[in-house]
Amino acid sequence: MVEISTSILSTKKGKESETFFALEKAKTDYFHIDVMDGKFVENDTYQKMLEYSSYIKRISNLPLDVHLMVKDVKQAVDDFLAVEPNIITFHYEACKNKEEVLDLINYIKQNNCKVGISLKPNTKIEEIYEFLPYVHMVLVMTVEPGKGGQTLLKDMVEKIATLRKYVESKELEIDIEADGGINLQTAEPVKQAGANILVAGTAILIAKDFGVIIEELRK
Ligand code: DX5
Ligand code: ZN
Repeated sequence: MVEISTSILSTKKGKESETFFALEKAKTDYFHIDVMDGKFVENDTYQKMLEYSSYIKRISNLPLDVHLMVKDVKQAVDDFLAVEPNIITFHYEACKNKEEVLDLINYIKQNNCKVGISLKPNTKIEEIYEFLPYVHMVLVMTVEPGKGGQTLLKDMVEKIATLRKYVESKELEIDIEADGGINLQTAEPVKQAGANILVAGTAILIAKDFGVIIEELRK
């Protein structure tokens, strides 16, 4: 059984509270908060995601899974710690060197928050092996970061399988989250490959009944 983290990126304007209440009722495992700064990726969702996160915190106890697609990771960590997320994930590619990666991992953990590291599709999975003993999760992007509604990049399935094999060989306890283009068709191969948390935005938000689609994706 995998966990489902619903991306609220594509929430329709004016339907925010209705959507968040319905996702709370549908018992999504996490709310996936896609933070974009207009620099690391073209879109800028920063303020909107801060507002959405604060609102969700007021109406739900379900955990926030914050995905930072930003250049200034430390500033974003400080801003989003305020909404007490369950986990904050930042991009390996946003860091200048390995010291910065390790500093950010420690900084997030020192603030009593779980930490994840994320990779864009073109970054080799081996690049982050040395950080695995220190993180709770690896977020494998299965689309180019920056927007919802894209098609899953098939060779990312192999990348997830390679990571899962490595994690098991080292007997590490790490969640592997797949993010982007996940739907009822693509969920299966991604789960088989070893992802145990699936992010879905479009596939869930277009559904009539969030509970049904979340249940289907979990199977
Ligand atoms: C893309 C985000 C993903 C995306 C998922 O940069 O990280 O979380 O919003 O949305 P769908 O499920 O529509 O691909
Ligand atoms: Zn995301």
